[in-house]
Amino acid sequence: MIETLERLREEVTGRLEGCASEQEIEQVRIDYLGRKSGKLTALLRGLRELPADERPRAGQELNRRRAELEGLLEARLKDLQESGKPRLDGAPGLDVTLPGNRVERGRVHPLTRVTDEIIDIFTGMGFEIARGPDVEDDYHNFEALNIPRDHPARDMQDTFFVSDDHVLRTHTSPVQIRVMEQRRPPLQIIAPGAVYRHDDDATHSPVFHQVEGFMVDHHITFGDLKGVLTHFLEQIFQNEVRVRFRPSFFPFTEPSAEVDIGCLLCRGAGDAGNCRVCRGSRWLEILGSGMIDPNVFRFVGYDAETFSGFAFGMGVERIAMLKYGMDDIRMFFQNDIRFLRQFPA
Ligand code: PHE
Repeated sequence: MIETLERLREEVTGRLEGCASEQEIEQVRIDYLGRKSGKLTALLRGLRELPADERPRAGQELNRRRAELEGLLEARLKDLQESGKPRLDGAPGLDVTLPGNRVERGRVHPLTRVTDEIIDIFTGMGFEIARGPDVEDDYHNFEALNIPRDHPARDMQDTFFVSDDHVLRTHTSPVQIRVMEQRRPPLQIIAPGAVYRHDDDATHSPVFHQVEGFMVDHHITFGDLKGVLTHFLEQIFQNEVRVRFRPSFFPFTEPSAEVDIGCLLCRGAGDAGNCRVCRGSRWLEILGSGMIDPNVFRFVGYDAETFSGFAFGMGVERIAMLKYGMDDIRMFFQNDIRFLRQFPA
């Protein structure tokens, strides 16, 4: 009997090797362990015919063998299920189901995101993009913007000088001059880019970013300025904002207005006095703007009687900080991966 059992095991092992599906394995089980016609089952049934004193030992042996076969079947089944995924034939040791080297997905820097959003809103209104150099000459950065040499207005911007006559641009407004020197109205332009000022604390960085914009044509009015900027602010802050135009001064615009939005944190509520963002003023300054000064038109050779226009400039960091509830501008430039990862891919 031992020999028979040994043979059965070899048969089962052989057949299992050839099995390519769960059904085939099930068939092997039926053939050997099946209730009706399983070969091992038949042997178990045959126990009855054995003399009573041999039965217990033979019974034990048969049960052991049955457990062994069941083990083989189960192991083969598990094997098959695990290799059910693609496998390269003839290439043992190469398991194509193993995870590959992970490719880290990059993210767009929050400042780039916000700049892109700003650009999208203005191009949606028909504005074109223009760019100018970061190292700018005194003429374009100041002079042609109606800021003469030795004029106190230069004090508004702490300038990095590259040479006596060249600076790191302190704002994107020189792009206005460069575009108007090259082209004639109608013009609807935005100019994003880096700007530089000698300033460094939680809300000022020596390098930061602005988006300049301007529009020049016949009959452009302050109403156009209000309409365009109000639409922009509603879009960028998602329709929940109040907008206020407040008289101000810039050498290159007349009249000039600073544009504020209602504080995004306290929303002008009664507890505004304690508000961390607006410090009780209930308003946040967002943009500088105004009607382009006739003196500026004179510098670029436009007839101020024929054309009029408005211009504006905004800080990208400031908008991003308000949108994302940040209170330290330096986070944008430290490249701390934990900060950058918070922005979706
Ligand atoms: N250039 C100004 C600044 O940097 C912003 C501004 C642009 C204001 C255009 C009016 C018109 O502060």
